[in-house]
Amino acid sequence: SWTTGNVIEEQVVAIREQVGDKRAICGLSGGVDSAVAAALVARAIGDQLTCVYVDHGLMRKGETEQVEKDFVAATGVKLVVVDAEERFLAALKGVSEPEEKRKIIGREFIRVFEQAQAEIIADAGPAVEFLVQGTLYPDVVESGGGTGTANIKSHHNVGGLPEDLEFKLVEPLRKLFKDEVRMVGQELGLPEEIVQRQPFPGPGLGIRIVGEVTKERLDLLRDADAIAREELTAAGLDREIWQCPVVLLADVRSVGVQGDGRTYGHPIVLRPVSSEDAMTADWSRLPYDVLARISTRITNEVRDVNRVVVDVTSKPPGTIEWE
Ligand code: XMP
Repeated sequence: SWTTGNVIEEQVVAIREQVGDKRAICGLSGGVDSAVAAALVARAIGDQLTCVYVDHGLMRKGETEQVEKDFVAATGVKLVVVDAEERFLAALKGVSEPEEKRKIIGREFIRVFEQAQAEIIADAGPAVEFLVQGTLYPDVVESGGGTGTANIKSHHNVGGLPEDLEFKLVEPLRKLFKDEVRMVGQELGLPEEIVQRQPFPGPGLGIRIVGEVTKERLDLLRDADAIAREELTAAGLDREIWQCPVVLLADVRSVGVQGDGRTYGHPIVLRPVSSEDAMTADWSRLPYDVLARISTRITNEVRDVNRVVVDVTSKPPGTIEWE
């Protein structure tokens, strides 16, 4: 019968058999799938696995620390963190067009990852023959036909590596659905914040700033996003909401009155949605008092923001992310 314990035991045996005495690497994105896949493989082969986390500077508040500290503490995994914030910001300088941003982030990501990989391969240990990926059952089923949204936005994932890489894949989650992956992650002792994480796009906050991406804008958006997440969690709404992108309209300004005078600041958009699979979505009818708390706190606490608006568009016609 299906239990998380059985799944783990079975996979541990299978992974050991597949990898033997060779080494494997795994890219961590901060998301559930790569974290659980890495934790499973770490359980099976320990030190023969090296994880790579590219910090592109586009993560939300606290997320990089969660991977660096909590994930490592829970799994004992060998982790290489590449601080590539400056490189990504330099590459994104002056760019506002969404597809261009996505392409730049995807391209830089692959370059940084490959470089880290080359360094790992070059050290003295046994051959690195395997790449771990958090492919789920629905990904396996879908990959034949492709999805309806695939052509609309160029999705970028840690998994989106170039085809000329000569790795054999280790995909321990291939038979599992998302809720099962979360259960396995929990059983493996991963932190709640990682196991229960809502979907978050690979390009991160880079596609939640409408306009050019700068460090200052990212910091501002991180603050606003942290407040929204804090209040939604405090209100017990995390399970009800599929995800709630928080978007900075950096190219838009509006007049406000704050403190002693007139301000000319930026709006923040809240985009809470409910969904089954992200292919379609409905805007979430959040309680007014929760919206009020988020709005008051963001306009009080986040510099340069003087307005909070709620996106009430379903998908279609609006995609979940703004870019
Ligand atoms: P859209 O905006 O297309 O988003 O309605 C659908 C779902 O996909 C997420 N998303 C991404 N996930 N890499 C990802 O891994 C990406 O490049 C990406 N872009 C969007 C989005 O957050 C939503 O859950």
